[in-house]
Amino acid sequence: MQRQLHLNLFIHGRGHHEASWRHPSSSPLALTDIRYYVDLAQRAEAALFDSIFLADQLALGGDVAQAPRTWLEPITVLAALATATTRIGLIATASTTYTEPFNLARQFASVDHISNGRAAWNIVTSWLAAAADNYGGAGAVSHADRYTRGDEFMRVVTELWDSWAADAVLDDRGSGIYARRERIRPINHRGEQFTVAGPLNMPRCPQGRPVLVQAGSSDTGRRFAARHAEAVFTAHMAKETAQEFYADLKRLAAEEGRAPEHILILPGLSPMIAGTEAEAERLVREVNELTDPEVGRKRLSGRFGGQDFSHLPLDRPLVPEDFPSPETVQAARSRTEVILNLVRRDRPTLRQLLGYLAGARGHYVTAGTPERIADLIEDWFTSGAADGFNIMPPLLPTQLDAFSSGVIPLLQRRGLFRTEYTGEMLRQHYGLPWPPSVSDDPEWKAELKETAAGV
Ligand SMILES: Cc1cc2nc3c(=O)[nH]c(=O)nc-3n(C[C@H](O)[C@H](O)[C@H](O)COP(=O)(O)O)c2cc1C
Repeated sequence: MQRQLHLNLFIHGRGHHEASWRHPSSSPLALTDIRYYVDLAQRAEAALFDSIFLADQLALGGDVAQAPRTWLEPITVLAALATATTRIGLIATASTTYTEPFNLARQFASVDHISNGRAAWNIVTSWLAAAADNYGGAGAVSHADRYTRGDEFMRVVTELWDSWAADAVLDDRGSGIYARRERIRPINHRGEQFTVAGPLNMPRCPQGRPVLVQAGSSDTGRRFAARHAEAVFTAHMAKETAQEFYADLKRLAAEEGRAPEHILILPGLSPMIAGTEAEAERLVREVNELTDPEVGRKRLSGRFGGQDFSHLPLDRPLVPEDFPSPETVQAARSRTEVILNLVRRDRPTLRQLLGYLAGARGHYVTAGTPERIADLIEDWFTSGAADGFNIMPPLLPTQLDAFSSGVIPLLQRRGLFRTEYTGEMLRQHYGLPWPPSVSDDPEWKAELKETAAGV
C-alpha cells in the first residue's frame, strides 16, 4: 500500500489565529464548555483524523485581557472526550518539570483504559518562565536542567507502565484469584531526581504504554525526541527547514537504535481555505483586522523569556540586533530561531512580523483553495518534510470543516489518506509497534522462575 499521511487536529482557543475568538464565524460556545471540545473531536473523528491534541501552559498568560486560551486542564478533557468518541486518538500535554512521574503515569494509563487504547502524552518540559512561580517559586528551571529531569522522568514512567505484565489480571471468580502477584513487580527507582518504589496501582493499559509525542526543537530537545517520541510536532515557516528537521530527527532516531518510521514528524499547518484564492485572502484580511499589535508584542516578549520590546517602533524594518541571541533564551529556544531566521531573510517591520505570528505563532500559515492546500500537503509529504501534519485551523470550527470537506477528499482520491479507520487504537492509526510486555523480558522471566522456585 502507498505510504499514508497522518493528520492531527490541534485544538486551540476558537482557532489558531490570535483574533479568532472575535470573528463571527468562530464557535459561540464558551471556552470552558465541554460541548465545544466534544463537538470538535466528533467532527475530527467523522473526517477520519488520526488524533486531536490539546496544548497546555502552567501559568496565566500576561495577555488575558485580549487573548482567551483553551482553559480546561487537558488530561481531564481527554477523559470526557474518551467517552464521547470511539476511534480518534487523544493527545494531552503534561509537563515533566512540574509534576511527579507516579501522578502522570496513573493519569495517562487511566485515559488509555477509559478510551480503550487511544491516549497519547505530549511531553513538555515547560518553557514558560512564569510557570515556576506556581510551583514553589524557586525561579525558572534552566533549559538543560529541564531536559535532564525529563530523561529520568521518562525512565520512571516507562518502568511504571511496564510494572504490570499484560496477563497479570486473571479476575477469576471460581479460583478466587484476581491478579497474579508475581506478574506485578516494583520498580525501586532511586535516581538523582526521583525515588519511586512502584509498581503502578493499575493494570497495564490497552496500548501497553500511551503513545509518546514531543515537540522539542533545540539540539537537546531533538535528542530527547529521538530517544522517546513516537510522534513529533514541529513549527516551520519554510519547507527547507522542515526537510532539515525531518532528516536530522530520523538520523538521530536511527542513532538511538530506533526504526526511523516509528517516529512520525508532523509539522504545523494553518491553512485558511475558501472556494477561490481571492476569498481565502479576504478571510485572512478580515481576521487580521481584528488583531491588536500590543497583544502580539506581549506574546513576543514571552517567547524571548520576558525581553522588553516596548521601545521598538511598529513600522521600521527589524534587524537581528533588535533581539537577544537565542543561546541566552531559556524559554522555547527553537521558536526564537525560527523568528530570527524570518527577520534575517525578510526584514519585516514589527507590525508585519506580529501579523505573521498572529496567524499561528510561527507555524506555516497559508491561504488558498482546497486544491492548493492538498498540493502543498502532498509536496511536503513526498519530499522528505513530513509524515503528516498538525492541522491548526485559523478559525474553529468553520476552517476545520473547510479542511475536512475540501482537502481530505482530495487526499483520499490521491490515495494518500484513509477512507475508513482500520484499527481501534492510536498505535494502529499511527502504524506504531506495541511496546513488549515485560513478561517477555528475559530478565523478568528469570526473576519469575526464581520466584516460582521459591528462591
Ligand atoms: C505544536 C507544538 C505544540 C507545543 N505545545 C506545547 C505546550 O502545550 N506546552 C509547552 O509548554 N510547550 C509546548 N510546545 C513547546 C515544545 O515543547 C518545546 O519546548 C519547544 O518546541 C522548544 O523546543 P526546545 O524545548 O527543544 O527548546 C509546543 C511546540 C510545538 C511545536
